[in-house]
Amino acid sequence: MGRGGRMLTLIAVVSSAGGAGRSTVSAHLAAQLAHGGKPVAVLELDAQNSIGALLGLRQTCETGVLTAGVAPDSWRAVLRETPVGVPLLPAGRTDASAQTALGEWLQRDAGGLRRQLDAVGLATGTRVLIDTQRLPDAIAQAAIAAADLVLGIVPVTTTGYVTQPDLMAACAGRAQMVPNLVASSSPLNNDLLHLIQARGGDAMVPLRIHRDDAVGTASANGGSLAKAADGSQAALDFIHLEAWLARATPPADGGAMANGGHARGGAET
Ligand SMILES: Nc1ncnc2c1ncn2[C@@H]1O[C@H](COP(=O)(O)OP(=O)(O)O)[C@@H](O)[C@H]1O
Ligand SMILES: [Mg+2]
Repeated sequence: MGRGGRMLTLIAVVSSAGGAGRSTVSAHLAAQLAHGGKPVAVLELDAQNSIGALLGLRQTCETGVLTAGVAPDSWRAVLRETPVGVPLLPAGRTDASAQTALGEWLQRDAGGLRRQLDAVGLATGTRVLIDTQRLPDAIAQAAIAAADLVLGIVPVTTTGYVTQPDLMAACAGRAQMVPNLVASSSPLNNDLLHLIQARGGDAMVPLRIHRDDAVGTASANGGSLAKAADGSQAALDFIHLEAWLARATPPADGGAMANGGHARGGAET
């Protein structure tokens, strides 16, 4: 059993700024967890339908959780394995009315998201990273409401700084914020980082993700940073973020080994 009798640990990855790095963080963090032998899966609640590529899939996922006609209780049928070893529930091709329908369904049934994920059959103790659309968004709000931990991505840009209060408000103070796109050699970037950290206070995760070309290279190659760009700054950043997340979301009864669980499709031990 997971924490409080829960089978899964849900982690919503959200932001109020566009291009903040939600998908990047979701994908590389998931790959890093899998690399460390911790059961993990990704749920893509973003109409961009592109996180599969970051997990190494060569082809666009046609059908997924946002596709018209895919009922929430049939998510199991759209679950797929990925080359980096992270099971994925992709968004799939979607349209505005399918998204509105899911948003309304989730708003009517606050426990629905967790229930549908429980029904997918992931290993007990799996951490599910939920990639979302930029806030405000009804589906992203439902992910926040259902999540055990909310990871707010704050790009260290003027937009990231300006929208940080929106992020904090949308998460009702529950966001644990990670600065992304940190450029230590830029004085402006350093100033913005300090402002963001000062405003975030205790809600800032005590690490940062640097702007690193290796991120683009890894996504172009559809591979994990650990494999594609071992030793890069970003690879190191995600090792730190994975270690923090593992501590921040401990399984209640001694971890994946006690659960006898591995991610489906083979995280290593
Ligand atoms: N730390 C980083 N270093 C370099 N490029 C990054 C980093 N984080 C994100 N990017 C790039 O920024 C763009 C937006 O990232 P993405 O993850 O798609 O954002 P979102 O999902 O929030 O819209 C992508 O081209 C991605 O490769
Ligand atoms: Mg995205």
